[in-house]
Amino acid sequence: MDLKAAVIGAGIISDQHFEAMQRTEGYTPCAVVDINKDKAEQAAKRYGVRAYTDYHEMMETEQPNVAAIALPHFLHKETALYAAERGCHLMLEKPMALTTTECDEIIAAARRGNIRILVGHTQHYMAENLAAKAILNSGELGELVMINDTRHIHYYKDSRPQWFLEKAKSGGGILANLGAHSIDKIQWLTDSYVRRVRASVSHHGKRGDVEGSGIIWLELDNGIPATIVQSGYPGASRNETELIFTGGMLKLNTGQDLWISRGGTYEPVEVTAIATPFELQYRELRDAIREARDPECSGDYGRSVIAAIEQVYRSAETGTEQEVTRPV
Ligand SMILES: NC(=O)c1ccc[n+]([C@@H]2O[C@H](COP(=O)([O-])OP(=O)(O)OC[C@H]3O[C@@H](n4cnc5c(N)ncnc54)[C@H](O)[C@@H]3O)[C@@H](O)[C@H]2O)c1
Repeated sequence: MDLKAAVIGAGIISDQHFEAMQRTEGYTPCAVVDINKDKAEQAAKRYGVRAYTDYHEMMETEQPNVAAIALPHFLHKETALYAAERGCHLMLEKPMALTTTECDEIIAAARRGNIRILVGHTQHYMAENLAAKAILNSGELGELVMINDTRHIHYYKDSRPQWFLEKAKSGGGILANLGAHSIDKIQWLTDSYVRRVRASVSHHGKRGDVEGSGIIWLELDNGIPATIVQSGYPGASRNETELIFTGGMLKLNTGQDLWISRGGTYEPVEVTAIATPFELQYRELRDAIREARDPECSGDYGRSVIAAIEQVYRSAETGTEQEVTRPV
């Protein structure tokens, strides 16, 4: 039987959720929620579902099997707990929550409610990333030595919703929001977790109280060091992850292309087109529900990214290196 599915939050990312649900066998979209009635009604019309302005009412009336939580970060926890108590499985957008304490509450509620949570770490499902991981794992470039990840985007563009720039609502600036993608990408590519960080941040944004740029040095459990450099001020966009091996290099422009150096200049790698990351996420959640197992990006995994981000901010505040610990 199809899973009845709702989207909570009809903002920028909600179309990707509805389109993926529509294209994935096993889902029947039923409802959309947004406190902004116009947004909810427009999405409802676009996708042929019912509109609500209150997620509690939607949950009681529709009793969906799956809910996508696509809300400002400070609302992830309360919504996830409410859904988990009602046995509703979750496609929970990244970053999982504001703090590891909140993540722990969500994980415990999921266990009590016997629900599956997939945290929306899309990096696991991008064609160029998968191709890079296959080359890394093949060993053809030798040992991995280090990773340098650089991202420049205009974070303060006028279209950015204000809540992203308020720390109490977002949990942080570019390093919490896009840093979550970089930390996830590095952990996933290397099958390892961040164990140590040192970071500095700067605050030159024209609005809000979050950092607008930062530099992170980190070390993984497997000993590999990496850097993450992110800047949200106006300039040329860049989203580049460079992997340095003993016998060559990979240059990964996620969502765009992949390049390989076998000792000389970079040459393009042919990347096979695949379904969208959102479709792959919905397939994975559906299969995890059917097979009664945790999905790849489980709550525990989502927590590991928040644990690293927490220590990034602690390091920036204290000027000292910080350990990232995980529950045993
Ligand atoms: N995976 C990705 O690549 C990706 C990309 C973009 C955003 N995201 C994540 O998706 C989530 C949403 O981001 P967005 O860019 O769509 O934000 P957004 O601000 O565009 O959308 C959030 C929506 O939630 C609504 N809302 C706020 N409070 C509400 C409440 N109490 N009840 C119901 N609706 C409420 C707002 O009106 C808004 O329409 C965030 O976690 C973000 O980090 C992920």
